[in-house]
Amino acid sequence: PRVAVVFGGRSSEHAVSCATAAGVLRAIDRERYDVVPVGVARDGSWVLVEDDPDPLQLTTDHTPEVAHSGTEVALSTAVGDRSLLVQEPGQPPRALGEVDVVFPLLHGPYGEDGTLQGMLELADVRYVGSGVLASAAGMDKHYMKVVFAGAGLPLGPYTVITDRQWRADKAAAMDAAAALSFPVFVKPCRAGSSMGVSKVDSVDGLEAAVEVARSHDLKVIVEAGIEGREIECAVLEGHGTESPRTSLPGEIMLESGHGHDFYDFEAKYLDEAAVRLSCPAELPDDVSEEVRRLAGAAFEALGCEGLARVDCFVTERGEVLINEINTMPGFTPHSMYPRMWEASGVSYPELIDDLIQLALN
Ligand code: DAL
Ligand code: MG
Repeated sequence: PRVAVVFGGRSSEHAVSCATAAGVLRAIDRERYDVVPVGVARDGSWVLVEDDPDPLQLTTDHTPEVAHSGTEVALSTAVGDRSLLVQEPGQPPRALGEVDVVFPLLHGPYGEDGTLQGMLELADVRYVGSGVLASAAGMDKHYMKVVFAGAGLPLGPYTVITDRQWRADKAAAMDAAAALSFPVFVKPCRAGSSMGVSKVDSVDGLEAAVEVARSHDLKVIVEAGIEGREIECAVLEGHGTESPRTSLPGEIMLESGHGHDFYDFEAKYLDEAAVRLSCPAELPDDVSEEVRRLAGAAFEALGCEGLARVDCFVTERGEVLINEINTMPGFTPHSMYPRMWEASGVSYPELIDDLIQLALN
């Protein structure tokens, strides 16, 4: 089958998406799949890019970016015609051939939020991962929690500040946020990789933190900091009528002395010594089981497909709270999602293959 691997994108997680694509391009089974790498430039244009993972790596000295190759790519939106059309400068468009499945390795808005998924639905093309609704709700930390609460899943306290509320009555919005116990985490509702996120210890820092979050998204969520361990669980859709499969949980441990107050962007992607990803996490069996049960339930509550990573807190008393779900989690071989599967007996290439097969069937 022919797989279009789509990466980059318009969101602030462009570089993270390139890093994810580097991992997948390196590991995908070339005997089985005919790979067409498609980059989405920061301005949203789709371009045919070289099939080379090296320049896509994210390091402290190199932030990868999709460059305009000169060859634009479009998907035919005529139902039943799954052609990829390419256009070289000064040439008439030509069909590159049909794609059997799109692997959207995009994080954040215009990639992970249902918009791209809607376009692929219109084009009648199969794709890896969640559909329109689960992607949209999973991208929005507010609606994600509304859905989880509706399904009876345990969450920490939070409040949402919409753009209108902030502009109409900033003081009331700040009061609602300050009513949560400090520290609080102030986040753009629709972003990822800790972009625009601040940890705030007292009411003094609140307004500035909301403005930082608002520079990413005009809808902001303020979450009460939970005293507990950061535990994640990888979920993979089942085949046929099988329930969603869950991995052994993993744990994020911040090492002290690296200047990171929480698991921020640098700690996630650039400062390797700052975090320890422990997989499987050392948890009592019943707590580990509860994390997996809740992760599977979160996946089903949102109606996810393909894959998702569910991030939880485990308190000292062994209580498990869901923090969030990511419908296109970081997916380099060093990312938590593949590592948790590795620890659970599914290798990175097997995972890629399984995800493509789930999309094709
Ligand atoms: N948003 C990043 C990629 C993650 O959840 O892993
Ligand atoms: Mg996220």
